[in-house]
Amino acid sequence: MSAPNKSYDPVEVEALKPEEIARMRDEALAAFAAAGDLAALHEAKIAHIGDRSPLALANREIGALPPHAKADAGKRVGGTRAEVGRALATRQEELEAERDARVLVEEAVDVTLPGDRITPGARHPLTTLSERIEDIFVAMGYEVAEGPEVEAEWFNFDALNFTPDHPARAMQDTFFVRSAGAADAAAEGESGVVLRTHTSPVQVRSMLDREPPIYVVCPGRVYRTDELDATHTPVFHQVELLAIDEGLTMADLKGTMDHMVSALFGEGVSTRVRPNYFPFTEPSAEMDMQCYVCRGASVGDPDHPCRTCSSEGWIELGGCGMVNPRVLIACGIDPEKYSGFAFGFGIERMLMFRHNVEDMRDMVEGDVRFTRPFGMEI
Ligand code: PHE
Repeated sequence: MSAPNKSYDPVEVEALKPEEIARMRDEALAAFAAAGDLAALHEAKIAHIGDRSPLALANREIGALPPHAKADAGKRVGGTRAEVGRALATRQEELEAERDARVLVEEAVDVTLPGDRITPGARHPLTTLSERIEDIFVAMGYEVAEGPEVEAEWFNFDALNFTPDHPARAMQDTFFVRSAGAADAAAEGESGVVLRTHTSPVQVRSMLDREPPIYVVCPGRVYRTDELDATHTPVFHQVELLAIDEGLTMADLKGTMDHMVSALFGEGVSTRVRPNYFPFTEPSAEMDMQCYVCRGASVGDPDHPCRTCSSEGWIELGGCGMVNPRVLIACGIDPEKYSGFAFGFGIERMLMFRHNVEDMRDMVEGDVRFTRPFGMEI
C-alpha cells in the first residue's frame, strides 16, 4: 500500500487505473460465467471478490489516497465491486436453479411404484392355541412340564403299561430310532429309543421327578408314521394333562375338562365320556365336547346342518381316564393313597374344528397367507 501523498493521482496508481479496474471486472465476470457449478462459482468468488482479490487490494489502496483523490477512485472501485457482486448473485441464482432442477429429476420419487411392505413375523396358530390351553391350566395351579421328543421306549411304552408284545405298540405307528431288540441295546440291557408317539411319557417323567400332589400340563410335538395328507401329519402336537392327588375321581377329570372347553369355546359348552381303552388309564374313555357352533341343535335337523360337528352335536376331543395303578407303581407312587386322572388331545385337530381349517397340510407349509388371518399375536 502506498503512503499518503498530497500530489498523488489515483490514475497514476497502477492498481487503480480505469483500464486495470475494467480488466479486473471483465476477468471476474468471465470467471463467474465460466463457473459450471456452485463449487466452481465459490472458487471464482474467492479469487475475484475475496479478501485477497485484486479488487479488494485495489479497494485498500484507496485508503492511502489524498482526500481529493478518494472520491473518484472510490466511485470507480466501488461501482465495479457492486457490479461484480451483482453478477455473482445473478450467476449464483442461475446455478442454484440449475441444481434444483437437476435434483428434482435425479432424486424424483415415483410415488406410484409399489412399496416394499415388510410385515412383522408372528407365532404359528398352533403355538398360540397350545399356549392358550396351557394358560387355562396354569391359572388353575398346574405347572407346565416338557420332555424329550427322542424318548426311551421305556418312558413311551413300558412305564405306561404297554407290555412288550402289546398290540398298542404297533397301533401307535412308532418311528423307532433304535429298537429294543437291537444287539447293542440288548447287550447294555437298555430300552429302545423312539420318537415319542404321544406326550404321555412326560406324565411318567413328571411323576418320577415330583412328589404328589402333582398337577402338570404337558404340551409338545409327537411323531407317528403317517403320510402327510389332508387329515394326517407324521409330526403333530398334543397337550396332556396329569393330576395326582388324594381322592381324585373321574368327576374331577370331567369337571376340569368342562372348565377347559368353556374357557376355550364359550360358557356352557360341556363334555361327555365314552368307554375306550388305553393301557395307562383304567377306566379309560374318549372325551367329546358339545359342538360349540350348533350346541346340538343340528342333530336330526336336516334343514340346518352343522359343518363343525357334521350334525352329530358332539366333537371328539381326545383320550382320558384314571391313571392305571400299575403306572403309579412304576413311577413310585402309592396307589392306595393317591389316584390321578390324565387327558391327552391333539392341537392340530382342535385348530381344525375351532377355525374350520380343512387341510392339515396348511399348518405345516409355513405359508403366511394361512397364518395371517389368525392374527399377529407375538
Ligand atoms: N396318549 C394318548 C394318545 O396319544 C391319549 C391319552 C392321554 C389317553 C392321556 C388317556 C390319557 O392316544
